[in-house]
Amino acid sequence: MNILLLGSGGREHALAWKIAASPIVEKFWCAPGNAGIAREAACIPLDASDHAAVIDFCRRESVDLVVVGPEAPLAAGLIDDLDAVGITAFGPSRAAAALEASKSFTKALCREHGIPTAAYEAFSDAGAAKAYVRVQGAPIVVKADGLAAGKGVTVATTVEEAEAAVDAIFRDEGAAVVIEEMLTGEEASFFVLCDGEHALPLATAQDHKRAFDGDTGPNTGGMGAYSPAPVMTEAMCQRVMDEIVMPTLAAMRARGTPFKGVLFAGLMITADGPKLIEYNVRFGDPEAQVLMMRLMSDLVPALLAACDGVLNTFDLRWFPDPALTVVMATRGYPGDYPKGSRIEGLREAAAVKGVEIFHAGTKADGEAILANGGRVLNVTASAPTIAEAQRRAYAAIDLIRWPEGFYRRDIGWRAVKRERDAHV
Ligand code: AMP
Ligand code: GLY
Repeated sequence: MNILLLGSGGREHALAWKIAASPIVEKFWCAPGNAGIAREAACIPLDASDHAAVIDFCRRESVDLVVVGPEAPLAAGLIDDLDAVGITAFGPSRAAAALEASKSFTKALCREHGIPTAAYEAFSDAGAAKAYVRVQGAPIVVKADGLAAGKGVTVATTVEEAEAAVDAIFRDEGAAVVIEEMLTGEEASFFVLCDGEHALPLATAQDHKRAFDGDTGPNTGGMGAYSPAPVMTEAMCQRVMDEIVMPTLAAMRARGTPFKGVLFAGLMITADGPKLIEYNVRFGDPEAQVLMMRLMSDLVPALLAACDGVLNTFDLRWFPDPALTVVMATRGYPGDYPKGSRIEGLREAAAVKGVEIFHAGTKADGEAILANGGRVLNVTASAPTIAEAQRRAYAAIDLIRWPEGFYRRDIGWRAVKRERDAHV
C-alpha cells in the first residue's frame, strides 16, 4: 500500500512515525514534511493547495491513501476533489469541515440538536454585538467567525474588554462574531475516528495552550500535552459520546454531509457535565504526539476502515502507559522569532528510555538540524506513571543544546498532582 501524508508539523511527524511502522505500507511520501519526517518518509515539495498537482502525483505514483494532517486543505475541499477522481483520502469533506471552519455553523447545529455547549448569540454587526455584551455583562467570551477567524478568542473579564474585542473583529469587512457564556471547569480533548456513520473513540488528552509556566502568557497552538486526561473517566467518555459526538454525527448525516475523519472535541467538564467548546476536524497538535505514542495497533487499517465506512467492525488497542509531550519553541514564539539556529544533542536525548522526539519546524543542513519555525520539537515520553513520563521528557530536554529555544517546565502538572494525591 502506498501512502501520501500532507503536512509538516509535530502532529504529522507522529502520524508518519506510526504509518512508517505499518507492515502493510510499501511506499510512503510526505509533503512537505520536515527534517524528522524525512527519517520516516520521502519528503516531497508538493503544494497541498494545488489540488490538480496532488491528484497528478497520486496517479503517477499509484497512491492508495492520502492522509491530511492540517485543517486548511480540508476546509479548501481537497478531500472532495480526491474523492471525485476515486482517490481514497482520510479526512472530512469541505462541507463537513465547517464543524471547525465556522463557529456559527457549529453553534447553530448544537442549538438545533440540543447538544450541550455555552449559551450564545451570533452577530454580523458590531453595534448589535456590543449591545448584547452590555446586557449579558462580563465575564463573556468573544470569538471571531468566518473571514476574521484568525483573530481568535477573547475570554473577557470586563464589558470594556469584550467591546474592544468586538471592535477589533469588525475592523475587517464582512466579519462576524459569536458571543458566548463563559464556562468554568476543567478542559479536555476527546478524539473520535468517524466513517460518516460509526464512531470509534480514540483517546483523551489535555494540552497547555499558554506560552509560559503556570499557564500564563499568550495563547499558543499548544506548548505540551498528555494522555489520558484524568478528568475523562470512562463514564464521562460515554456521556460525551451519547450527548455530544453521536448527535453531531447524526445531524451531519441528516444534512447530507456525513463526517469522516478525526473529530476532535474541545470540552469543558463543568459542574453540569461535559459541554462542547469547539470542534476541530483533524488531530490536535501536540495531542497527536501523545496519542500516537499510546496507540499499540497499526494506525493504517483504522484510517482505511474510516474511509471505507466499516469502523463498526474495528477496534484499536492502546498501551496503558500514559504519555506526555513537551514542546520546544524558538524564543519569541508565538510572536516573531528568528530562523536558522542550530540544535545539538538530539541523538543523546532520543536515547533516553521511553522517549521519542517528534520534529515540527526543523530543517536539515547536512548533518545539522536547524530551527525553522515557532514550535520546533516535541519531546515525548511514555512511562508507567505520568510523573515518570514527565521526568523522562525533561531528562531528554536537559540533553538538548539549543540556547535560542524555550519550553515550559511544568507540562502535565495537573495530572502529576492528581496522581500524587491519589497515592497518599
Ligand atoms: P478555541 O479557539 O475556541 O479553542 O478557544 C480557545 C480557548 O479559549 C479554549 O481552549 C478555552 O480555554 C477558551 N474558551 C473558549 N470558549 C470558552 C468558553 N465559552 N468559556 C470558557 N473558556 C472558553
Ligand atoms: N492543540 C490544539 C490544536 O491542535 O488545535
